[in-house]
Amino acid sequence: MTVAVIGTGKMGSGIAKLLAGKGEKIVIGSRDPAKAAQLAAEIGHGAEGGGIAAAAKLADIVVLAVTYPQIGDAIREAGGLAGKIIVDISNPITEDFKALTVGHTTSAAEEIQKLAPEAKVVKAFNTIFAQLLPAESREGRKVQVFVAGDDEVAKKKVSDLVAKGEFEPIDSGPLSNSRYLEPVGEINIWFGFFLGWGTSAAPAWIKS
Ligand SMILES: NC(=O)c1ccc[n+]([C@@H]2O[C@H](COP(=O)([O-])OP(=O)(O)OC[C@H]3O[C@@H](n4cnc5c(N)ncnc54)[C@H](OP(=O)(O)O)[C@@H]3O)[C@@H](O)[C@H]2O)c1
Repeated sequence: MTVAVIGTGKMGSGIAKLLAGKGEKIVIGSRDPAKAAQLAAEIGHGAEGGGIAAAAKLADIVVLAVTYPQIGDAIREAGGLAGKIIVDISNPITEDFKALTVGHTTSAAEEIQKLAPEAKVVKAFNTIFAQLLPAESREGRKVQVFVAGDDEVAKKKVSDLVAKGEFEPIDSGPLSNSRYLEPVGEINIWFGFFLGWGTSAAPAWIKS
C-alpha cells in the first residue's frame, strides 16, 4: 500500500516522516515537485517526492495536508482522486485561528467529500498539533486520534495507519461526525495557542 502526502508544510512533513519511519511506502506531492523531492530525500526510508498528480496516481491513500481553503485546488491538481481514500486532517479555521468557518450543518470533511465524490473521505489527525507527530515528542503517552468516515474498510485502513504511528485510533462514527471533531480541533487550538498550554495539548476521551 502506498500513501501519498500532499503538502510539504508542518503536517505533511510530519506525517510523511512518521509513517516512512514505520515502514510505509510514502510519496510526497507538492505544487513545487523539487521541494517534495528534497523533503523525501531528507526523510529517507524509500520515500519519494514529486508533483501532486504523480504522487496521487501512485497511492491508495492520499493525505491532504493542505490548508482548508486550498484543498479544492489540490484535489483538482491531483486529478479528482476517484477511487482513492482521502485522509482529511483539516480544521477550517479563520485567519486569526480563533474560530471555524464551517460547522453545525456541515463540516470541512463533508465539503471535501462533495469535491471528490468518487473518493472515500476519512477524517483523522485534526486534533493533533504537528509538534506531536514525532513519536518521541509524546513521551510514552498514547495520544488519541479520532477517525470518522462512512466507508468501514477505508476507516479501518486509516485507523491501521494511525496505530502504526503509535497513536490510539478512536472510531468516531460517520463522516458527518466531523461536525463535532472539527470544533474539538478548534478548542485544542485555543488551549495550545491562546490559553497557554502549548502545542503538546491534545484531547483525551475517557472510557471505562
Ligand atoms: N499545524 C498543525 O498543528 C495542524 C494540526 C491539525 C490539523 N492541521 C491541518 O493540517 C492542514 C495543513 O496544515 P499545516 O499546519 O501543515 O499548514 P502549512 O504548514 O501552512 O502547510 C500547508 C501546505 O499546503 C500546501 N498548499 C497550499 N496551497 C496549496 C494549493 N493551492 N494547492 C496545493 N497545495 C497547497 C502547501 O504545500 P507545498 O508548499 O508543498 O505546495 C503548504 O505547505 C490544514 O488543513 C490544518 O488545518 C494542522
